[in-house]
Amino acid sequence: MKIAIVEDDINMRKSLEIAMSDFEEFEIKTFKNAKDALKSIDDSFELVITDINMPGMDGIEFIKTLNGRFEVIIMTGNATLQRAIESIHLGVKDFLLKPFDVETLVHAIKREGEVQKVKKNLPKKETISTHNGFLGTSESLQSILKIANKAAKTDASILLLGQSGVGKEVFANHIHENSTRAKKPFIAINMAAIPDNLIESELFGFEKGAFTDASEAKIGQFELANGGTLFLDEIGEMPYAVQAKILRALQEKEVRRLGSSKSIKIDIRIISATNANLAEKIQNGEFREDLYYRLNTIPLNIPPLKDRQDEILQIADKILEQNCKKYGFDLKTFSKEAQEHLLAYTWPGNIRELISVVERAVILSDSHEITPEALFLESRGLKKSKDIKSMEKDLIQEVLKSEDGDVEKASEILGMSTIHLTKKIQIYGI
Ligand SMILES: Nc1ncnc2c1ncn2[C@@H]1O[C@H](COP(=O)(O)OP(=O)(O)OP(=O)(O)O)[C@@H](O)[C@H]1O
Ligand SMILES: [Mg+2]
Repeated sequence: MKIAIVEDDINMRKSLEIAMSDFEEFEIKTFKNAKDALKSIDDSFELVITDINMPGMDGIEFIKTLNGRFEVIIMTGNATLQRAIESIHLGVKDFLLKPFDVETLVHAIKREGEVQKVKKNLPKKETISTHNGFLGTSESLQSILKIANKAAKTDASILLLGQSGVGKEVFANHIHENSTRAKKPFIAINMAAIPDNLIESELFGFEKGAFTDASEAKIGQFELANGGTLFLDEIGEMPYAVQAKILRALQEKEVRRLGSSKSIKIDIRIISATNANLAEKIQNGEFREDLYYRLNTIPLNIPPLKDRQDEILQIADKILEQNCKKYGFDLKTFSKEAQEHLLAYTWPGNIRELISVVERAVILSDSHEITPEALFLESRGLKKSKDIKSMEKDLIQEVLKSEDGDVEKASEILGMSTIHLTKKIQIYGI
C-alpha cells in the first residue's frame, strides 16, 4: 500500500518514517508540506495521511485541493479538533488525536485498506436516501420538530443554529417538504463554498455583457427559487457588502440582475443556517444586525448529538440497518460494549460523524456483532468514562457483598444515601 504522509514537524515526520519502515506492506513517502505533496502524489498512492496545522497550505486546504481523489486520515492535536470536524465535512473518515502510538496509526491504515477492498468488491445494493426517514426521537428534537412543522406552514424566515453535522440542511429540507411550497423549488446555496467576488452574481444573476466574461446571461438563485424556498447555508460567511443587497431583496421582494435596470418580483421563503456565533459577529461589525433580525423570525437551535443521549443508539441502529442493506450483509448488531462506546463518545462531528463511523464498522466487522474495535473511537479521544463507571460498579458490588447485601450498611460505608445507592444498583444492574 503506497501512502503519502504530510507532516511539517521534522521529529514527528522522522519518527513516523522509522516506525513505519518496520512494515513491509506499506510504502511510505513523507512530505514536509502540502505543496510538495501535491506535486508528487499521483494515482499510485492509495492513502494520504496529513497533519492539519502546517505553515503555508494547511491540512484542510490540502484536503480540499485533493478534491476526494484520495482517502485521507488526519492527525491532529487537541487544539485543532474544530478543524478535524471540518475535515469530516470534507469526507475524511478517520482522524487520530495526537499523541497517538504507532499501533493506532497502523490500525487506522489497515482499516482503510480493508474498507477500500470491501468497497471495491461489494457493489452498493442501494443508496441511502437521506431525504425521507428523518431520524430522531429525543424529546429535545421532537419539540424542535414540532415548532418546525408549525413554522413550515407559514412564510416566516427560519434560522437554523447548531454545530456542524447536526442536520441543519436536513431540517431545512424537511421544512420545505412540509410547507405549501413543497412542489416548488428548494434551492440551497452555501455561502462558504462560493468565492466572495462571485456571490452576488450567483445570488442575483447577470445580463449578457454585464461584465467582460458575461457572454451569456445567468439566472440567479433568488430567481430560480421563485415560488419556493431559498436555503442560505453558512450565512456567517456572507461578505458584509452582500448582506445589504440580500436585505434589500428580502424587503422589496424583488431582485435585479447585475447589468440590468429591470427589477424582477420574487416570492420566496428564506431558511438560513449557521454554526457561527452571529451575536459575536454583529458585535465585531461583521454581520448586519438588521439582516439578522430579518432572517431570524423563528430561530431553531438543534442540539448536538452528545446532548441527545436517549437517541444515539436508535439513530446508530437505523444507520446500521441501512448500511447492512447497502452492502448486502445480514443484519448486524452492536455489542453491549460497543453501545457503551457510542454513548460515551462526544461526537464533535455529530450525525455526520456517527454515519461514517457506523458505515465503516459495518464494513470492517467480520462477525454479526459489532465490537468497540470496529468503531475505533479511542483514536479520536473517546473519554474512558466507562472505566470510572465500571470501577464504581465493582466497588459497590464489593461493599454489598461484604455487608451481605445490606443496602443501608453499604450506603454508610460508601458515603452515599440509600436512595442514591439503590438507584446506582438499578443502573448497574447489580
Ligand atoms: N435527523 C436526521 N435524520 C437522518 N439523518 C440526519 C439527521 N440529521 C442529520 N442527518 C445526516 O447527517 C449528515 C449531516 O447533516 P446536515 O448536512 O444536515 O448537517 P449540517 O448541520 O447542515 O452540517 P454543517 O453545518 O456541517 O453543514 C447528513 O448526511 C444528514 O443526512
Ligand atoms: Mg450544512
